[in-house]
Amino acid sequence: MNPNIAANGGAQKFKKVVLLYSGGLDTSVLLKWIQENYGAKLITLTADLGQPGLELEQIRKKALALGAEKAHVADVKKEFACDYVAKAIKANALYQDTYPLSTALGRPLIAKLAVELAEKEGADAIAHGCTGKGNDQVRLEVGIACLNPELKVLAPVREWGLSREEEIAYAKKHGIPIPAENKTYSTDENLWGKSTEGGIMEHPEEIAPEDAYSLVSLPEKAPPQPEFILLEFEKGVPTALNGEKLPLHELILALNVLAAKHGVGVCEHMEDRIVGLKTREFYECSAAECIIKAHKALEKYVHTIHENTFKQVLEDKWAYMAYAGLWYDPLMASLNAFMEESNKNVSGKVKLKLYKGSCHVAALSSPHALYDLNLATYGKGSLFDQSAAKGFIELWGLQSKLANQIARSNAEMEQAVIEKAKKEKLETEPNGGASNGRNMPGMRGKIGAKAQA
Ligand code: ARG
Repeated sequence: MNPNIAANGGAQKFKKVVLLYSGGLDTSVLLKWIQENYGAKLITLTADLGQPGLELEQIRKKALALGAEKAHVADVKKEFACDYVAKAIKANALYQDTYPLSTALGRPLIAKLAVELAEKEGADAIAHGCTGKGNDQVRLEVGIACLNPELKVLAPVREWGLSREEEIAYAKKHGIPIPAENKTYSTDENLWGKSTEGGIMEHPEEIAPEDAYSLVSLPEKAPPQPEFILLEFEKGVPTALNGEKLPLHELILALNVLAAKHGVGVCEHMEDRIVGLKTREFYECSAAECIIKAHKALEKYVHTIHENTFKQVLEDKWAYMAYAGLWYDPLMASLNAFMEESNKNVSGKVKLKLYKGSCHVAALSSPHALYDLNLATYGKGSLFDQSAAKGFIELWGLQSKLANQIARSNAEMEQAVIEKAKKEKLETEPNGGASNGRNMPGMRGKIGAKAQA
């Protein structure tokens, strides 16, 4: 067990604890529970990463009403977009080719904010409300350990085993308001996407219920006309939407609304968690789907074939590291340096067509494009020297041609040996050896040996 984690409530006392507080039932129960069980003063931290409907001021008041000594709220949408999401865009980050890592990208930022606050306030521990089955506990705790290994971590939900009914009873007893939240599913949301899991969705043999998605329209209910949108990129990052320059977080929030209306951005995923479980996840990441598609297309347009194929390998590694809570590992800095360098020419415009659940690249332009109409055209006057192709093909296929030639002549030689052995056998055995050969493995062995000689 991680020695930084207190095994049971009450066994260890803390002076001051920073609690990652969402304002929901779980973390409100935690707020009281930690005060009761650890005798600690509580400071709450609530970060706005662009989850809609977040009432920071209400959450702050609620935390203070439940006994928090201080309640910090931080609007970090801009920082989240510029320092986390932008890196993911440059890396075309999709875990297992599917999930744009919305939840995963938020955790290292939350860990950083919590460590900074704990240091400023002289707290000795950070508490979170994650269960023991998910990835988020790993991301937060590895992040905290990397940034300040002196800080202890409290993860009471992992240990207390309270059922929802017990939590509600505890809340009633302690005067904690019980929010009218829909708890059919477990969800997490920020500006890069929403994830939903649990309930009937835990049965992969069942088709997802319609309410698995709450942000994105069903394709059949999306507008009957397509919509074209224009994204402009500078060094790999989107900077304008439909001609309007916007800070990244605002651009993403606006694009989420536009694309969701057209049913774009849903994905269903049988996901491999870091802790060994497989889970069925549902994501709504409308802006992420549009931006990554557009960014990939622009990259292909400006990069050489070698850059395109090699980058993919590092992209997969980047997505895995971010998913697996290894944001602060030195490898991540090296990968980011590569992504930064390889995005220096990824500037240009991409037009996307959104229509009934689909998003596709309709047109693109870039001052760095390696595409050259004068070379590529099927029309008259192409500058491409077709006569050079002949010699190129000769050399390009040389080894493959040789390998095939050699394999063919070896097969012919083997066939000739077999034919010869068959012929000799016919000559030495009057009955041709045909009938009893099947029951005489020794005989077959001899032929085999001869054939090999
Ligand atoms: N599986 C995703 C991840 O690990 C999302 C988890 C979000 N949590 C939730 N309660 N739905 O990043």
